[in-house]
Amino acid sequence: MFRGDVMVFKSKDLLGLKELSAEDIMNIIDTAKTMKYVIKSNNKKTAHLQGKSIVTLFYENSTRTRLSFELASKYMSSSSANISASSSSVAKGETLIDTGKTIDMMGTDVIIIRHPMSGAPHLLAKNVKASVINAGDGMNEHPTQALLDMFTIVERKGSLKGLKVAIVGDIYHSRVARSNIWGMSKLGAEISVAGPATLIPPGLENTGIKVFNTVQEALIDADVVMGLRIQLERQKKGLFPTIREYSRFFGIDEKRLKLAKEDALLMHPGPVNRGVELSTSVVDCDQSFINEQVTNGVAVRMALLYLLTRRGPNEDIN
Ligand code: CP
Repeated sequence: MFRGDVMVFKSKDLLGLKELSAEDIMNIIDTAKTMKYVIKSNNKKTAHLQGKSIVTLFYENSTRTRLSFELASKYMSSSSANISASSSSVAKGETLIDTGKTIDMMGTDVIIIRHPMSGAPHLLAKNVKASVINAGDGMNEHPTQALLDMFTIVERKGSLKGLKVAIVGDIYHSRVARSNIWGMSKLGAEISVAGPATLIPPGLENTGIKVFNTVQEALIDADVVMGLRIQLERQKKGLFPTIREYSRFFGIDEKRLKLAKEDALLMHPGPVNRGVELSTSVVDCDQSFINEQVTNGVAVRMALLYLLTRRGPNEDIN
């Protein structure tokens, strides 16, 4: 099923794109291309994870990431289980490390964790034998989202090299933006961002990223336009006046999308606040690849589970 040159993943864990090389990223994308055939087929069953045990451990809400990991595990014949913080012994005060060790001692091969604290997956990874996948940690990274975003772009455009990617919205709180900036820069994209000045990390312009104060400037001639969700749960009061005002100045509608190239891809990690980051007509337009991103999320997560579990049993804790 796979080309003979699929690389063995060097690391036990997938914690962020900051640590991955361009070669690692392309290896995951190439593997995801193959996995997508399984998702599109009438027989969504492979034996790649037969005999493996996968656990999702989510301390924050999720639809796309959690379900796609669970389906990816099932499509590849693993035993899978999920734990929500609210219905587990976490609610009784158990620490992350104790919870992780408990999951580890049951013979788990991969733990997929989402946590509101930046660095929680890294702490877990140091304390368990299982491979750990970061499914989003606070404001730090959401590497699997960025991998599926890059896979979607590579599928349509062939490569990210030289592409103009405009990321619009709450860059400051966005782990999706952070992972995409790491990953896309490594693959040679030119990245522009736009958002309210209070939602742009200070000093970003010194890292090779173009920072614009208006959405219009960022969108001109873009090959890819990515809207970000306004994260009301992570906002401190006063970072922008009102949702209505945000939408007026930074929302992407059909008129603004026309500033990008005619064949530009419109993307959003979801969930979309319709009428805030994107107008409803734009969400559903022909240039929108938001639904394709969802399918590609399953393919990328299948690829990661495959690559991490074919390393063989881990002898050492990092
Ligand atoms: N994009 C994303 O992480 O969506 P969920 O919160 O639904 O997992």
